[in-house]
Amino acid sequence: MHTATRNRAPRAHDAKARHDETHLRSEAVSPPETVPLELTINGARHALRVEPWTSLLDLLREQLHLTGTKKGCDHGQCGACTVLVNGVRINACLALAVSHDGAEITTVEGLAQDGALHPVQQAFIDHDAFQCGYCTPGQICSAVGLLAEGHAHCRDDVREQMSGNLCRCGAYVNIANAVESVRRAQDLAGGNQEEGDTP
Ligand code: FES
Ligand code: FES
Repeated sequence: MHTATRNRAPRAHDAKARHDETHLRSEAVSPPETVPLELTINGARHALRVEPWTSLLDLLREQLHLTGTKKGCDHGQCGACTVLVNGVRINACLALAVSHDGAEITTVEGLAQDGALHPVQQAFIDHDAFQCGYCTPGQICSAVGLLAEGHAHCRDDVREQMSGNLCRCGAYVNIANAVESVRRAQDLAGGNQEEGDTP
């Protein structure tokens, strides 16, 4: 009896030790449920908590209800989710929200100022540059980013540098016309001579 008691005690102790060790190990590897994140979105500061794996696109659409930014492929291939991060265009579906802590985000909802459409928005209307409109917010944000980059110097440049934004309705001709009209206006306002213009 004495021997049996001695045998039972170590087994119970070992089981408890194993349980404690497993518990500690699982606590050590569990990611936090949510993490803090601060963003300025369309000029408004947001103090948020997000799951670490939340994409910027899902944060905008699902948590902040900014549904102007569209989800097309969710794989970085269509450009429907294009937004500006610190003025640079990115695919929001490929960006982890937490990786942009402190950033300034501009979505299509933030482009109009004081009730006036952004020149690119106006140009899309003037040039009838959409059909169903699903790709349009991404096209417009991408065009705003493109114009800020300053690497497009003609319509062909515009077409090439907008090639990451797909339009299933095939409105490419009018989209290029719209973006090119704003690029040209900016160029002329900046005093640059366009090829073919009479001095
Ligand atoms: S939804 Fe992001 S690129 Fe298609
Ligand atoms: S206007 Fe329909 S997808 Fe572009």
